[in-house]
Amino acid sequence: MDRIRIHGGHPLSGSIKISGSKNSALPILAATLLTREPCIIHRVPDLSDTHYMLQILTHLGAQVERASGTVSVTAEKIESTAPYDVVRRMRASVCVLGPLLGRCKEATVSMPGGCVIGDRPIDLHLKGFEALGAAVRVESGNVKLFAPKLAGAVINLRGKFGPTVLGTDNVMMAAVLAEGTTVIEGAAQEPEVVDLANFLNKMGAKIEGAGTRRLIIEGVKELHGAEHDIIPDRIEAGTFLVAGAICGKGITIKRVEPEHVLAVTNALNNCGFRIESSANSISVSPNGDAKPLELITEPYPGFPTDMQAQMCALLSTTGGISVITENIFPQRYMHVAELKRMGANVDLEGPTAVIKGVDHLFGAPVMASDLRASAALVLAGLKADGITEVSRVYHIDRGYEHLDEKLSELGAHIERVKS
Ligand code: EPZ
Repeated sequence: MDRIRIHGGHPLSGSIKISGSKNSALPILAATLLTREPCIIHRVPDLSDTHYMLQILTHLGAQVERASGTVSVTAEKIESTAPYDVVRRMRASVCVLGPLLGRCKEATVSMPGGCVIGDRPIDLHLKGFEALGAAVRVESGNVKLFAPKLAGAVINLRGKFGPTVLGTDNVMMAAVLAEGTTVIEGAAQEPEVVDLANFLNKMGAKIEGAGTRRLIIEGVKELHGAEHDIIPDRIEAGTFLVAGAICGKGITIKRVEPEHVLAVTNALNNCGFRIESSANSISVSPNGDAKPLELITEPYPGFPTDMQAQMCALLSTTGGISVITENIFPQRYMHVAELKRMGANVDLEGPTAVIKGVDHLFGAPVMASDLRASAALVLAGLKADGITEVSRVYHIDRGYEHLDEKLSELGAHIERVKS
């Protein structure tokens, strides 16, 4: 397994371009199953997660071609059973359930495993499918859906932790081919959900209210092919802004939607960093001593849970006492033990992390555990004195396109050590 070795203390400067969004590409690639006509998707990031999704589409019988960032998918004839050995590697595979149910009126997909950030239930997804008229069975590790026909319904998808992103995606993708009108109350408002709705509408769907808590979907008979550009990855953008904050002289990220990153740029502003935004670029630079923060993670447009670990790394090196409360995945603190190996001073109290900033972090061998925790360890290594080696970087490759190469372009002394 590859490792990433970072020689800390080298300030970053310059600019990099942000890739297409992983969390938009995955459901949009799944949505191509809803039509027998060709779909062309641009700016699909080169990640192991997108590769897994393309494998699943191929296993289901779709013709898939990829030329650098452009993917074309033609799902003329498809199976309704997704292969266990690919699905089990990526829990986001669950987002093929909705399009398979919409197109084939049946679907069999293995239950997504849990993961280190916590239990990953899909009860709200299944509640939505049942409301549309599907019979739901869970047997021998598979979710089996069957619906003689799908009929529009009023569905509340809000759970105890708030809206569900992939749940909203899944139910929306089944409802677009249902008879009649579906109303989804408590819908997720993430930009990735809006991007999916925009793509579905290009395919001939009739979806209103994307980006609000209430989606109204008028079912249609069938969808046609479409072409689409994936939105920029707001979490990659946030990760690089934190990199620029933790050890930058001033960096600029390009090809980004500043509005999608507002919660992160506001947090960095409140932390004392200078943020300058234009139509599709954002710059971050130091502006005197950084200050401690109180942060809570919330559904969009609140502060994203996917940026919590990265902010933990930054606030570990910021003077004073910061407090982070994780409201979406209360156990999402796998990065804390590893940051403490580097000298961070963090106390966990249930979903809350109390961070006492330290003057120095020290390089150390650390282990990646999940996508965003791994990124946080790389960011901490940029700041730490000495050498940090992050092992199991396959976690990083799942969701960041060439992270080490991009950081190297900004002046980081970072190398990938092939095992
Ligand atoms: C999406 O996961 C993202 N993944 C996650 O990003 C992100 O952290 C999460 O949304 C929250 O923003 C993709 O888009 C591929 P949820 P998703 O359903 O949709 C609970 C990353 O690092 N819940 O919005 O699976 C759930 O346990 C990944 O890129 C139920 O209770 O998350 C959680 O507490 C990690 N029942 C909360 O809702 C359900 O049926 C939000 O989960 C579904 C979810």
